[in-house]
Amino acid sequence: MACRICSGRLHPFADFGSQPLSDAFAAPGGPPEPFAFRLAVGVCTGCSMVQLLEEVPRERMFHADYPYLSSGSSVMRAHFESLAGRLLDTELTGPDPFVVELGCNDGAMLAAIARAGVRHLGVEPSGGVADVAAAKGVRVRKDFFEAATAAAILAEDGPADVVYAANTLCHIPYLDSIMKGLDALLRPSGVFVFEDPYLGDIVERASFDQIYDEHFYFFSATTVRGLARRHGFELVDVERLPVHGGEVRYTLARRGARKPTPAVAALLAAEEAAALHEPATLHRFADRVAATRERLVELLTGLREQGARVYGYGATAKSATVLNYCGIGPDLITFVSDTTPAKQGRLTPGSRIPVRDPGAFADPYPDYAVLFAWNHAEEIMAKETGFAAAGGTWILYVPEVHLVRA
Ligand code: SAH
Ligand code: TYD
Ligand code: ZN
Repeated sequence: MACRICSGRLHPFADFGSQPLSDAFAAPGGPPEPFAFRLAVGVCTGCSMVQLLEEVPRERMFHADYPYLSSGSSVMRAHFESLAGRLLDTELTGPDPFVVELGCNDGAMLAAIARAGVRHLGVEPSGGVADVAAAKGVRVRKDFFEAATAAAILAEDGPADVVYAANTLCHIPYLDSIMKGLDALLRPSGVFVFEDPYLGDIVERASFDQIYDEHFYFFSATTVRGLARRHGFELVDVERLPVHGGEVRYTLARRGARKPTPAVAALLAAEEAAALHEPATLHRFADRVAATRERLVELLTGLREQGARVYGYGATAKSATVLNYCGIGPDLITFVSDTTPAKQGRLTPGSRIPVRDPGAFADPYPDYAVLFAWNHAEEIMAKETGFAAAGGTWILYVPEVHLVRA
């Protein structure tokens, strides 16, 4: 398997074995969903990009029934509205500006742009969530973004001032086509702004559940700078974000168009000092992950023996890796509570734990709840006051297995 960026040799460092698709919530009574692909991750010995070794065809992941909704978290809604405000204030100030979002999902960001009356387009292949965005007044093209899509958008709408993508670029193996598309679509002064889970945070927190079929790349300032340069762009800004367990927002501009901010050099230096892309660092990460599996299984098995009631909280895509890698099923976790209508009444992929609506979580409260949506811990812990009053305990597994009194 060769690097999808530079064709270099990949050095594998973590292998989770055969896995089902992470967002394939199955109907009960149906056939078990296939363990369709091998989930393993490696670092490129040429350009240092960390990436999956096996790719799942995009149409199998992103389709009309794709269940994930960006607006399921109030913190994320505020995050995207604030970003929309910032783009309107800083980048979309010329006459008749135009902004394109890749993977606009349910319109959490673009609805605010639409309300401001600014020309925009969301490119979203998952039809169900695209319809939700359209219902909020967002102009959506149901399509995968790639070079051909960019050419079609340019022909219809003209050049873009900003292209934005949140938690989407890391989902796309074919970045060569994406970068060519950006080169065609962006104005000479235009910028590409994107944010994704940060390799530095994943390694530091041993947050191995960020690794699943949809997350093909694990970006850093070092590797994003390299990717940009291959296509005539420059990394001109980086900003660390607290959301989703630690992300970086990258800004790319055409080479020479903008002066990089000091934050870029600072993050590059920090990555170098941490030896972030060195195989030894990544193998240490893999060792911590194996230890987490052992401790989590030991804890849950012990709780079952005590007769404790244990539920899951948040049927995240991330949890597919945790549950299937650790071999956790309905014998250890009775059900997983989740607010997403399209997940409720279904089973978690592979591990086949029922997903139920949050009403079930309180009826009665469990003794313990595994917080699979740990990236939304603050928001969830603040609102689950009933669980606290009932004397419940959260189980977290990042950065290592630990208990938190609710
Ligand atoms: N931006 C949202 C959604 C992230 S989920 C947020 O941050 O919450 C990733 C989204 O990317 C999905 O809605 C998926 O349908 C979309 N996607 C996947 N491949 C894509 C592509 N090639 N072009 C545009 N969107 C894509
Ligand atoms: P998230 O961690 O954002 O993403 P991913 O699926 O990519 O790992 O998913 C959060 C899930 O948790 C989503 O299915 C909605 C659910 N959720 C709740 O059930 N209650 C909540 O209060 C929040 C914030 C999320
Ligand atoms: Zn490479």
